[in-house]
Amino acid sequence: MAPPVLEVAQAIAVEGKKGAKGEVKWLKHYSLAQSILVVGDGDFSFSRSLATAFGSGENLVATSLDSYGYLRIMYSHAESNVTSLKKMGATVLHDVDATEMKSHAHHALNRFDRIVFNFPHAGFTGRETTSNMVNSHKKLVMACFRSASSLLRPDGEIHVTHRTGHPYYRWEIEQLASESALVMFEKDFFWKYDYPGYNQKRGSGLRCDKDFPIDGSCTFKFRMERKVDESASIPLAAALDLMKLEAVTSSA
Ligand SMILES: C[S@@+](CC[C@H](N)C(=O)[O-])C[C@H]1O[C@@H](n2cnc3c(N)ncnc32)[C@H](O)[C@@H]1O
Repeated sequence: MAPPVLEVAQAIAVEGKKGAKGEVKWLKHYSLAQSILVVGDGDFSFSRSLATAFGSGENLVATSLDSYGYLRIMYSHAESNVTSLKKMGATVLHDVDATEMKSHAHHALNRFDRIVFNFPHAGFTGRETTSNMVNSHKKLVMACFRSASSLLRPDGEIHVTHRTGHPYYRWEIEQLASESALVMFEKDFFWKYDYPGYNQKRGSGLRCDKDFPIDGSCTFKFRMERKVDESASIPLAAALDLMKLEAVTSSA
């Protein structure tokens, strides 16, 4: 079914927002003003979509688990997407394991406002509904959360786009995030036409360059749990005393 015209128009429109240094381009949740790390990027069409919308890739670090040599074999558009990203000033890195990012030289030097993983998946080595497969996906996502949380700037966010139907809800990604002290603060319906040119890829197996159904998928947004600074808060009894004192002095 063709998407409603209004939604497509909204999707393709890149919002402009005035910032201190002039116009900052936005695409959906992302802007040129944010330092963005994309992990597990399939054929790099998602990162390319962002950079194209921003008119620059200077704020982007786009990464893949696979080497460049493999990517060129796996995806028909990987080479052109990577070339275009580099031309726009993006940093493109390969062989980046999202579960072990701290040890990567580039990441060791950087902290990010947004870390994005679209459709994390541990590979098609069995039926998606089996506990073994569900557990291997969960293990991947949990390790990615742990690794990514150490690369976030204060107030930074991790965005995971994920299918929500059976058996994907069994991954319990909110629970996995909580193991790394991350809390979900927003869950937004994912509409791929928000990202012109983006094509979700299976990413492994013989049909790695093919897409897969993503109806009903959502972008889950996480940030670090905020600890209440108990030493800074006024105990209730003291607060009541202050209010009483204020009432007495104002009536005197
Ligand atoms: C279903 S594909 C989605 C690809 C891409 N994000 C997209 O939206 O088209 C799953 C991706 O997860 C990546 N992946 C799996 N394990 C990973 C890991 N440990 N670190 C980084 N990426 C990983 C795969 O290389 C594959 O590209």
